[in-house]
Amino acid sequence: MKAGFIGIGRMGEPMVLRLLGAGFPVVVWNRTETKLTRVLAAGAEKAGSVADVAARAGVVLTMLTDDNAVESVYSELLAGDVRGRRFADMSTILPETAKRLAASAIAKEAAFVDAPVAGTVLPAREGRLLVFAGGREADVQELKPVFDAFARRVEYLGPSGSGAAMKLVHNTLLTTYWGVLAEAMAMGSCYGLHFKRMLDVIGESPAAFAALSVKIPLLLGHPAETGFDIANVRKDMGTITEFAKSLGVPVTIAEAALKTYEEASAAGFEDQDVGTIVKFQRDRQTPSRG
Ligand SMILES: NC(=O)c1ccc[n+]([C@@H]2O[C@H](COP(=O)([O-])OP(=O)(O)OC[C@H]3O[C@@H](n4cnc5c(N)ncnc54)[C@H](OP(=O)(O)O)[C@@H]3O)[C@@H](O)[C@H]2O)c1
Repeated sequence: MKAGFIGIGRMGEPMVLRLLGAGFPVVVWNRTETKLTRVLAAGAEKAGSVADVAARAGVVLTMLTDDNAVESVYSELLAGDVRGRRFADMSTILPETAKRLAASAIAKEAAFVDAPVAGTVLPAREGRLLVFAGGREADVQELKPVFDAFARRVEYLGPSGSGAAMKLVHNTLLTTYWGVLAEAMAMGSCYGLHFKRMLDVIGESPAAFAALSVKIPLLLGHPAETGFDIANVRKDMGTITEFAKSLGVPVTIAEAALKTYEEASAAGFEDQDVGTIVKFQRDRQTPSRG
């Protein structure tokens, strides 16, 4: 089965490489063509347009920045005859957007699954992503062999929008954890506790979280690849607050954490990994270390 992939960004690239590695022929499109170099070298085919991807592939995956990007790409993707095609959007977006796109796809006798992922660039490269899937269960089951190329687990959450909602639940925790870790470490550093020793202790304690261990080198100031950047954190937190507002659920702790990310962004951390929030908070509270 030929797979189409639109959005060859930080996450899209390793996902395409995994699909090729698993033996799927893949046809790709990206708004900025220069980002296709590595996937084309690995054997992907280049599509002439968004619509061309849908014309050439039975299954089309999209991995794009936000709701606007997804809406814009699907307005082209769903424009032609897409009967029998299966679409899966893996971006972090609002459940309402996913529901709308699923309805449009179904109206055109195609299938649409919202399938955002947990895990960053390295887990994508190693096939260890978690897929949160929403839509018709049979569609998710049909897409599972494709997701398995880059995922260690595909979790079916319920009807359209459920996967997108689960991703926002997940990212509320992840982004807030990093924000509060930064505050806690700044407090300990101000008192004079040894930074690495604090990290060792936290890593072994009930306050550890899964994403922490892989970021230790970055936290200790060693060169490390950016996975989930602060620009994307802010984008996700904007989506989270909009989603929570639509439900009438307060997210005061997440909103407080967002304020710190906005300050980090204004201080030039926009392109840096989420883990650098710890350095930002520590250095501004203990300037002599900066
Ligand atoms: N990075 C992570 O750790 C991570 C983890 C899990 C989920 N996610 C989510 O996955 C999605 C992609 O993240 P990423 O880190 O791969 O971001 P990224 O590197 O910034 O890639 C974003 C992709 O979206 C494309 N795009 C943006 N606006 C577009 C538009 N209007 N029309 C067409 N294409 C457009 C970009 O094209 P250009 O190349 O032309 O800009 C690029 O291919 C986001 O929703 C993010 O929240 C990210």
